[in-house]
Amino acid sequence: MPPARTASTVRSPRFGDDWWQRGIVYQIYPRSFADADGDGFGDLQGIIDHLDHVGPGGLGIDAIWLSPIYPSPGLDVGYDVSDHTTVDPLFGTDDDFDRLVEEAHGRGIRVVLDLVMNHTSDQHPWFVASRASRTGPFADWYLWRDPSGHAPDGTPLPPNNWVSFFGGSGWEWEPAREQFYYHTFLPQQPELDWRTPAVEAAQLAMVRGWLARGVDGFRLDVFNAFLKHPDLLSNPTREGTSAWGRQIHLYDRDQPDFPDLMARFRAIVDSQPGRMSVGELFDGTVETAASLTTDRHLFFDWDLLGAPWRAQDLRTAIGSREAVFGPHRWPTAALSNHDQPRQASRLAASVADPDVDAVARAAAVLILTLRGTPFMYYGEELGLRDVDIPPDESVDPPAAVVAPDFQWWDRSRCRTPMPWSPGPGAGFTTGRPWLRLGPDAETRNVRTQAEDPGSILSLYRRLIALRAATPALQVGSLEMVPDQDASVVAYSRTTPDQTILVALNVGRERISWTVPGDPGSTRWRLVLRTAGADTPADELTAGESIEMDGDEGIILERVGRA
Ligand code: GLC
Repeated sequence: MPPARTASTVRSPRFGDDWWQRGIVYQIYPRSFADADGDGFGDLQGIIDHLDHVGPGGLGIDAIWLSPIYPSPGLDVGYDVSDHTTVDPLFGTDDDFDRLVEEAHGRGIRVVLDLVMNHTSDQHPWFVASRASRTGPFADWYLWRDPSGHAPDGTPLPPNNWVSFFGGSGWEWEPAREQFYYHTFLPQQPELDWRTPAVEAAQLAMVRGWLARGVDGFRLDVFNAFLKHPDLLSNPTREGTSAWGRQIHLYDRDQPDFPDLMARFRAIVDSQPGRMSVGELFDGTVETAASLTTDRHLFFDWDLLGAPWRAQDLRTAIGSREAVFGPHRWPTAALSNHDQPRQASRLAASVADPDVDAVARAAAVLILTLRGTPFMYYGEELGLRDVDIPPDESVDPPAAVVAPDFQWWDRSRCRTPMPWSPGPGAGFTTGRPWLRLGPDAETRNVRTQAEDPGSILSLYRRLIALRAATPALQVGSLEMVPDQDASVVAYSRTTPDQTILVALNVGRERISWTVPGDPGSTRWRLVLRTAGADTPADELTAGESIEMDGDEGIILERVGRA
């Protein structure tokens, strides 16, 4: 890593140190965002060139989270890191990164890095040294264990019953050491042993290094798996449909001393103002996410991300989040990411005969009006769909190697290049894109949608501007509206000075929705609707009805007593 630079000044037009709470984080998958050098892969210069799309004057988001930008053999497409301290030449140079931070900060956009600290690539120099010998400075940096015995034919038997998430045993035999090493993911992603003090020291030094370069926060990959039980006990088993699912993961994640490790990490992040982190919970519940959330250290929870587009399921997911997080913990809101189907495709798939764009528009209202920091995945602002990728074009190797009992969804489908403009390469590249573009890129692209006030992109811009101007949408409490119509999800967001009402018709039929409250008691102004044009002058009083299209979302602001 080059010498640490002084953090550049963060000039935010809107937010202070609570940007991580009031603001919106936009996830960029660097390989697919924008290619500036024509090699077909997105790069850091491409991101710099398109900051005005995400920042003020464009979408108006507050932070970008970059999926891994570090050198990687690419077997888990960047999540197998061979050096955590520098930039993969595929994406540019360390200087490009420092320029990106400066350019982003100059626009009031924070930069959040994805840290993959549970494992490394097997090409990482630490592992290369570690696997070579049982002695030497890196010998105990990974989870090495002797065999538990030998089969009659002499085959060494694994130390315990732990399996890989991708299927099969989690233990890989290394003849040079005559020992096994453990991997939760691919065999080429060996697990670090965080109980070795030098491992923790090296990782936390790396975190300090990125903070010194001006990074504003971190997304922590599979954070709760860092620590294993010190004795590596076998997990209890249960019924299940995959090797992973047939175990109760008591000893390979969520260890009782994990919060202490978190506290040591947080102390470093907290030593500088305005920094944040967000943990990716590996295979955990909303309760685990809430229990690990503190101050500006957030966690993703998966209930909302997994909920189908059905009113009852969404109400349950929102309600349980609220109940579990309570008023003093701050949730996140995500409907998609680089591991999951595109939100339009996923949500529309859960209903018969969907109008996919209408669902995408209403989902935009959902993610931007819930309590919690929204994490938007790139391209959702265009309503991008999953793209059919023929197996021989898949760029998600785990999809090809997972054990037969494990159903793996090909993540290439949700990682396709961002379409910026009509024409060959869709403005993403002048070369051959590393992964095919969606079939609708000619019309579903940034330039075309920016010119259309009725587009999904224009809706996102309006919604984000509304959120930025509306404290209740940023930090207000959330209460579900009681006694709702069968197809409606409705909730209010409230601060002492402001009340916002959000209603989503999660059904195909047009309905007449009655504004809640004692008839005539309160007056409301319609500030946004996803079908048709807003008519901001429209006012309604409690007890009055408003027509809502199928899969339409509306937002009302209380303007006073009737
Ligand atoms: C996380 C990442 C995923 C990756 C896995 C292993 O779940 O989001 O993309 O495959 O960790 O690193």
